[in-house]
Amino acid sequence: MGRATCIRLAAEGARILAIDVDSAGLEETALMIKEQGGRIESHLCNVTLRTECAEAVQRAVDTFGRLDVLANIAGIVRFAHSPEMSEAEWNLVLAVNLSGPFYLCQESIPHLLETHGNIVNVASNAGLMGQAYTAAYCASKGGLVQLTRSLAMEFIKKPLRVNAICPSGTDTQMNKGIDFPDDLDWKLIGRFTGIRGFAQPSDMASAIAYVASDEAKMIHGAVISVDQGMMAG
Ligand SMILES: NC(=O)c1ccc[n+]([C@@H]2O[C@H](COP(=O)([O-])OP(=O)(O)OC[C@H]3O[C@@H](n4cnc5c(N)ncnc54)[C@H](O)[C@@H]3O)[C@@H](O)[C@H]2O)c1
Repeated sequence: MGRATCIRLAAEGARILAIDVDSAGLEETALMIKEQGGRIESHLCNVTLRTECAEAVQRAVDTFGRLDVLANIAGIVRFAHSPEMSEAEWNLVLAVNLSGPFYLCQESIPHLLETHGNIVNVASNAGLMGQAYTAAYCASKGGLVQLTRSLAMEFIKKPLRVNAICPSGTDTQMNKGIDFPDDLDWKLIGRFTGIRGFAQPSDMASAIAYVASDEAKMIHGAVISVDQGMMAG
């Protein structure tokens, strides 16, 4: 989703600082953008570490002279029987999916206020409804939804927009290597693939590009489902 968003925004003329813990993935993305004539810089960043988030935001501002959009897209999922989930796994999911976006918001907001910019948080339908065997993921995404609303209220009198999109199942790496514990009740999981099936990462990139654009200037504090009707019933 992050790569698709880079491709989409670069095609629209954005200058991008892509951050991730995966240096090979970053390199591949940068190559793709450069081949299409776009401007991108890569920066290794573990979003669970506040100092690395601060360095990443500073690098963006130093490189491009301004910051217009923060897109919090990085995330991880873990399936577990809740009574058996380790403390380390719980903390990691919360750190990547909730603390990381908060640190990046903290560091970015002073710069975004200068440019009348905006933040797009990528939450999940799992932040709006209960999904079995993913207590940490659901809690982190529900937290990200509320982080979005809280920041939206805090800055409602200031020139900053803060929104979230909530994708449903999307055909990305995330869904390819999931380590499922034994003895899951698959009937409880099946409904989360949605009746219309998987979306493509570019579908989410389109939503992010719209919410981040001036076309969406009236959209603030919104939590937008991009889920092919999953939350409808
Ligand atoms: N794929 C889906 O079905 C789906 C559905 C709803 C929401 N989402 C959300 O969409 C976002 C993007 O997910 P995706 O499907 O593209 O997954 P993905 O696994 O393809 O990409 C996630 C990226 O996050 C990076 N990452 C992981 N830990 C990190 C860390 N500590 N610091 C920096 N980067 C880190 C990974 O290296 C990877 O590049 C996530 O927040 C995810 O929760 C995904």
